[in-house]
Amino acid sequence: MSDTVKIFDTTLRDGEQSPGASMNTGEKLRLAVQLEKLGVDIIEAGFPAASEGDFDAVSQIAGKLKNVEVAGLARANKHDIDAAWAAIRHAAKPRIHTFIATSDIHLKYKLQMPREKVLAEIKGAVAYAKSLTPNVEFSAEDGSRSDRDFLCQAFETAIAAGATTVNLPDTVGYAIPSEFADLVKHVMQHTPNMDKAVLSVHCHNDLGLATANTLAAIAAGARQAEVTINGIGERAGNTSLEEVVMALHTRQNYLPLNTRIRTDQIYPSSRLVSMITGIMVQPNKAIVGANAFAHEAGIHQDGMLKNPMTYEIMRPETIGLSSTKLVLGKHSGRHALREHLKELGYDLSGDELQTVFTQFKALADKKKHVMDEDLEAIVTQGVLRTAETFVLEYLHVTAGTTVMPMASVRLSINGRSVKDAGYGNGPIDAAYNTIAKLTGTESELLRFSISALTGGTDAQGEVTVRLRENGLVALGRGSDPDIITASALAYINGLNRLEYLKNHPTERAQSV
Ligand code: KIV
Ligand code: ZN
Repeated sequence: MSDTVKIFDTTLRDGEQSPGASMNTGEKLRLAVQLEKLGVDIIEAGFPAASEGDFDAVSQIAGKLKNVEVAGLARANKHDIDAAWAAIRHAAKPRIHTFIATSDIHLKYKLQMPREKVLAEIKGAVAYAKSLTPNVEFSAEDGSRSDRDFLCQAFETAIAAGATTVNLPDTVGYAIPSEFADLVKHVMQHTPNMDKAVLSVHCHNDLGLATANTLAAIAAGARQAEVTINGIGERAGNTSLEEVVMALHTRQNYLPLNTRIRTDQIYPSSRLVSMITGIMVQPNKAIVGANAFAHEAGIHQDGMLKNPMTYEIMRPETIGLSSTKLVLGKHSGRHALREHLKELGYDLSGDELQTVFTQFKALADKKKHVMDEDLEAIVTQGVLRTAETFVLEYLHVTAGTTVMPMASVRLSINGRSVKDAGYGNGPIDAAYNTIAKLTGTESELLRFSISALTGGTDAQGEVTVRLRENGLVALGRGSDPDIITASALAYINGLNRLEYLKNHPTERAQSV
């Protein structure tokens, strides 16, 4: 059995099914390039039959990437498989990933098919995909809740029809690690042709066990892990790439298995995903959370100074987190900025670099030390943004213990300046009321969160909002040393993303 575990990244497909996480095609391309640099074996670029936007994004990613397999998802029918193949056929290494549910509950209520019919569908779909490409993956949706013998029959049928990978998903995040490992062993022992395919696992995190289940499955013999960056995904998310990869990397003594991941690209990838999707990483998140390498307790700090390995099982540099985060000041030049951005994972074009450079200089005038997080915020605001309908031109607020909070706002709306003023319960509320009046938005503010990007009182405030209008949900993000401005920028970014979704119905995320 191979001692390498393939990493199948589905951030662009299952990850995009996180509520509000939809990415536009440009953002998906940028992320796909970073995933290739990270060294994943397979990128699941999307679900081409779901929408024109998905098809287009998968097709562009397939055309661009040369060193990684690009998979397109398809239900087990000709229409979906044709769409997936049309989107990926020009890839250097295409893979068709087709699936159908195998659990009795799905068969009875969702598919309304008897088991024999499901086996026939598997045979037909896999054989058809195989007639298009030798690289075919079959997934037994809700595999962990399927009858064990029927699951083995489904895999046997898929492998006989030509599947080179068979995937066992814990679709609803129901499995317990010891039980899941036992199921993997059972499948390996009772699927007669299992030696002709790679066994993969795909876990969801509903009970917080996705990583544990994936590692248990790998220890039991699975050799492909389906994962997402930061663990984003449907409901409570998917198995997180960084957790599985770093567990294997750190515990070689217990699980002597490798991946092809360049671990120093983990942190830049994590930041990029959170920048693009607007989904912040919780501070105590393993590996990539802000506190993952922070030591508060005095005894720990003392030990760390004597030898970092006393309390640190991984070095921050291993995941690409530079120990000195202080980077540039106002005298730093364009070249230094470009090189540093490259280290952070942003390879910018000339125009993009110019935009970032101008904003960097403006920030360096206000703030002595510009840190990595500041640069990333500038890149997100200046380069990774969707086309902007609304632009903040001017904001003035009055607030304090003795005045009624008031905001005066000037916006450019499709290039035309408009202004107004309004009151609120506080300065942010006043700014939001006024922006809402000017834009005429009917969106509802579902979430507002604010945090400091770095330490110190001159730190930039980072604000994330979630907005909903007529069933569309968008996240917005803004940062600025002034938290009221950051709040206004986040709101306006969310409104721009809502406008983008309204005008690009084909790019709305579709769930499987
Ligand atoms: O969770 C799941 O079962 C899936 C399949 C499509 C692989 O995402
Ligand atoms: Zn899934």
